[in-house]
Amino acid sequence: MVLRLGSTAPDFEAQTTKGSIKFHDFIGDKWTILFSHPADFTPVCTTELGIVAALEDEWEKRSVQVIGLSANGLEDHAKWIEDINEVNSVELNFPIIADADRKVSELYDMLDHQDATNVDAKGIPFTVRSVFIIDPKKTIRLILTYPASTGRNFDEILRVVDSLQLGDQHRITTPGNWKKGDDVIVHPSVTTEEAHKLFKNVRVVKPYLRLTKSPF
Ligand code: BEZ
Repeated sequence: MVLRLGSTAPDFEAQTTKGSIKFHDFIGDKWTILFSHPADFTPVCTTELGIVAALEDEWEKRSVQVIGLSANGLEDHAKWIEDINEVNSVELNFPIIADADRKVSELYDMLDHQDATNVDAKGIPFTVRSVFIIDPKKTIRLILTYPASTGRNFDEILRVVDSLQLGDQHRITTPGNWKKGDDVIVHPSVTTEEAHKLFKNVRVVKPYLRLTKSPF
């Protein structure tokens, strides 16, 4: 199954460090970020999970729940979380899926079949660094894939959540490098006449580029 923006996030059952889950029940009515790691006890992943744990308040503010995945079993995950907490001075409270059989990784196309440097000792591909932002309707709204050697920027993931949530509430889009609070763009489907009724201080830079204050 090819997953695209707009696809329904496939459902699955899995063991996690917080118990068994059925993914659709887990999503419930929350925004959910599913992100994968090549393997436990790897350096880049150890830093990434520390960053995600430290951002707990930021996820909470946005009604976002995060769930990691790594292709190891629960026993490894438990020992690894102790390391993550120690190294990053955090308390990791979100679940990590134990995907030793790579069932979820296959389902979400997270296995790196092409990158010959990203394989385990047996030559089996590791999962890549994937991120899926899934909305409360269980629709995939963002897919990102990073190489194993590059840790992700989780401030960027938060920024995308802010943009998506704002765009769902108001008829706006967000410019390149936009941050929460910056001016936003009136959605192209809104006429300039409508825009003046909907928003305050509309600035028409070009007929197709109308800026307004952020409704945040
Ligand atoms: C890491 O997390 O450091 C890593 C994992 C797999 C391949 C390369 C780096």
